[in-house]
Amino acid sequence: MGHTLEQFSRQCHDFLKNNPGPAGREKVAGLLKEILLDKEFIEKHLHANVGEREVIYEDPELGFCVVAHNYPGAKNSTPHDHAHSWAIYGQARGETEMCDYELIEAATADKPGKVKLTKRYKLVPGVAHVYNEGDLHSPERKASTSLIRVEGTNMAKVTRFKFEAI
Ligand SMILES: [Fe+2]
Repeated sequence: MGHTLEQFSRQCHDFLKNNPGPAGREKVAGLLKEILLDKEFIEKHLHANVGEREVIYEDPELGFCVVAHNYPGAKNSTPHDHAHSWAIYGQARGETEMCDYELIEAATADKPGKVKLTKRYKLVPGVAHVYNEGDLHSPERKASTSLIRVEGTNMAKVTRFKFEAI
């Protein structure tokens, strides 16, 4: 308890700098799990006026971002990856129904890729899940949710391919 965004982002920076690749991201996910259970942190950074996507920290050296999300109401989404980057989904409130997929046919700029469902599971408050480069997934929610996500790079600036489930 008693975490601050400054502390959290500094620790993320050190984990990611000292352990490049998936190992560092697992360390970030471990710390994110603690943050998700810190009521004060969550109330401060996921207050009612936070929208669907608010970058609350962007690392000047490594480019990773800490992003706050208040997602209103039910929603489905199509399968996607995070292009050359990665993301850690941290569930703070509500439930995300996540599906994972295997790639059957690669996507191009003009044509959606084809993917096949491999796993279905729930992200509940306190769970942080790492999606590495190329990990295909689709989040769905039946009601409002709040998440803290850590992205390898600011995904708002990245063009992504489309995928369809077969
Ligand atoms: Fe994603």
